[in-house]
Amino acid sequence: MDLFLKQSDFSDLSCDKVKEICQSCTKCQLSQGRTKVVFGHGSIPCDLMLIGEAPGADEDLQGLPFVGRAGKLLTQILESVGINRPYDIYIANTVKCRPPENRAPLAQEQEACWPYLQAQIFQFVKPKIILLAGAPAVKAVLKIEEPMTKIRGEWKKLPGTDIDVMPIFHPAYLLRNPRKDKGSPKWLTWQDMQEVKNALNFIHKVRELNAS
Ligand code: URA
Ligand code: URA
Repeated sequence: MDLFLKQSDFSDLSCDKVKEICQSCTKCQLSQGRTKVVFGHGSIPCDLMLIGEAPGADEDLQGLPFVGRAGKLLTQILESVGINRPYDIYIANTVKCRPPENRAPLAQEQEACWPYLQAQIFQFVKPKIILLAGAPAVKAVLKIEEPMTKIRGEWKKLPGTDIDVMPIFHPAYLLRNPRKDKGSPKWLTWQDMQEVKNALNFIHKVRELNAS
């Protein structure tokens, strides 16, 4: 999958139009089992974007990303540092349709879905910071397969771009690991989110200074 060189097929289209095309997409087998396509949700453009793995059961029914239990935890985590959905963040997934039994999306499914994510990143959202929630998002976007425990909280660049990227634990993983003591996954995620909030504040400050 050549992520960064391929010209998007959608370069002349509006976000609504691309969403409409995505809603009748049959480029991979996931289309056969879906109720609704979960294209993505949030402000456009937006300094902050989060990319998750794939829609689950609740998302598939509602057509919106991160609205189930993991999504509610994600909303709380974001709000704890003053990031409010849908205004301050655009949220999407590596694949737009729910995999059967919530299995991880296959590389070929992520590849088939990449042009939509590519259009979201480069054409519509144009984020300064991208959060990658969980290993499948890291693998699809950064092409690395290191353990999340090793790479979470580390700033990376989206290859070939100046966009800052941070891998974070997936909220579903935090649901399975509810401890909050120092060094626990939740505690580490809180550190990561404060760092992200500081980076956003810095971006806004620089923009203000440049405008004045
Ligand atoms: N998990 C994800 O990775 N994405 C969603 O949209 C919901 C749950
Ligand atoms: N392992 C994963 O696959 N994802 C996480 O978010 C944390 C650990």
